[in-house]
Amino acid sequence: METKIVTIDLDARSYDIYIGSSLLFRIHDFVPEDMAGKAVFIVTDKNVEPYAQRVKDILKDNGARICELKVLPAGEKTKAFTKVEEVCTWLLEGGINRDSLVLAVGGGVIGDLTGFCAAIAMRGVPYIQVPTSLLAQVDSSVGGKTGINTAQGKNLVGSFYQPTAVIADIESLSTLPRRELLAGYAEILKYGLIQDLGFFQWLEKNGEKICNLDEEAIAFAVEVSCKAKAELVQSDETEQGSRALLNLGHTFGHALEVEAGYGGMLLHGEAVAIGTVMAFDLSYRMGLCAQEDVDRVEHHLSGIGLPTKAASVELLSTSVDKLIAAMAHDKKIKGGKPTFVLVNAIGEAFLSEDVSMDLVRDVLRDSLGGEVKTAQGGIKGRWASAFSSLS
Ligand code: GLY
Repeated sequence: METKIVTIDLDARSYDIYIGSSLLFRIHDFVPEDMAGKAVFIVTDKNVEPYAQRVKDILKDNGARICELKVLPAGEKTKAFTKVEEVCTWLLEGGINRDSLVLAVGGGVIGDLTGFCAAIAMRGVPYIQVPTSLLAQVDSSVGGKTGINTAQGKNLVGSFYQPTAVIADIESLSTLPRRELLAGYAEILKYGLIQDLGFFQWLEKNGEKICNLDEEAIAFAVEVSCKAKAELVQSDETEQGSRALLNLGHTFGHALEVEAGYGGMLLHGEAVAIGTVMAFDLSYRMGLCAQEDVDRVEHHLSGIGLPTKAASVELLSTSVDKLIAAMAHDKKIKGGKPTFVLVNAIGEAFLSEDVSMDLVRDVLRDSLGGEVKTAQGGIKGRWASAFSSLS
């Protein structure tokens, strides 16, 4: 497979995203920094450790003077203040300086945490994203958002700090649990839903191929996703406006994640899938899009094996009131009003602050299956098998 290159054009902070197969073995070819005599610090998690170990060996063989590896626990709980302290202490004790290079080898959690540590250690050291999950390859590793979660909400502490390269090796997805792969799919679908009906139609035909690890289909979807993201990031790097379209389904989704407690019960992409259906449902209730669009999106997501209702999340005990309170902490609130990503149709998303909270409550109530959702609810639909066999 030929390596695809997507450029993020941000003047002095521009960089390339490399998408291809078996990039690991040539990883030094894609590192823009001169490796000779460099001190390299690689952050990874337990699930990806063998892959990161090989990255380390290859960089060492190709001139790195020091190559250290930090292995953190896998999972959303790693995106925490305590881990920022742990990683920064490790970097400083390892003798990091502004000539050093930090690599994030892992999924969105490792990428977000490592990018944030790279942004603040020595007031900023260069870092490279080596995303090994589908979600990270199509979204979180691109565009320079870094950060951690707090009890108050997702990603409320962080920075915009661009990497110097993103190296997306499709082969690294082969060992990804299916549940993680599907979670990444929710972020791919987002690009079609925001502004590209043609891509949505392609996904309706080819989505299964992505979930069955067809490398050509994945490489195509990753490239389309990165190009779409590049455009939005280039026009609005720090999310003053249009970049927020990438948050389709995220205002609802983040509230569900906060309520789920970041413990692996609900993956970010799963929350986004449910939140996306809520955003379409809200748009329908506001008279903006057709019921058929809501049904088509829900049908596609559930056909892929993703959850589409909060009611289907086992162990999630929450209420409409708690979700509304969690939404109140979202970054997308300006002047007391939450900004929602709404749709006029599939592929036609826009931002609005003009949303009735009564309708939001209706949407939440229907997704939860009532005003209050207790933990007894079972897992329903096709998602059941994905959850029970792969969690
Ligand atoms: N994940 C949304 C963004 O990067 O803006």
